[in-house]
Amino acid sequence: MPTIHFVHPDNRSESVDADIGNGAMRAALAHGLDGILAECGGSAVCATCHVYVDEAWLAKLKPVGADEDELLDGTASERLPNGRLSCQIEMTSELDGLVLRLPERQT
Ligand code: FES
Repeated sequence: MPTIHFVHPDNRSESVDADIGNGAMRAALAHGLDGILAECGGSAVCATCHVYVDEAWLAKLKPVGADEDELLDGTASERLPNGRLSCQIEMTSELDGLVLRLPERQT
């Protein structure tokens, strides 16, 4: 079971286990993590599951899809080159140790 390290804006880190095949967002919600709202439940329409992927992990993720790319333009916190929607990051065993930084706000 891969572990995701979520880093809050104040640098506090929370580590949660994730199910393979599920989006990283689901692991955050399952553990009651503050900072991921996921208002649409993972349907890629709300952009409230925004995260910044630690640079060391970027190359291990699948590329941003067209829908995700469009939504990332409307995130509440600034879009950065490493910005992703956590519901679209499908967890695999290769992503064990993934570091995702949380933005200042989701709405
Ligand atoms: S949960 Fe709504 S876009 Fe990710």
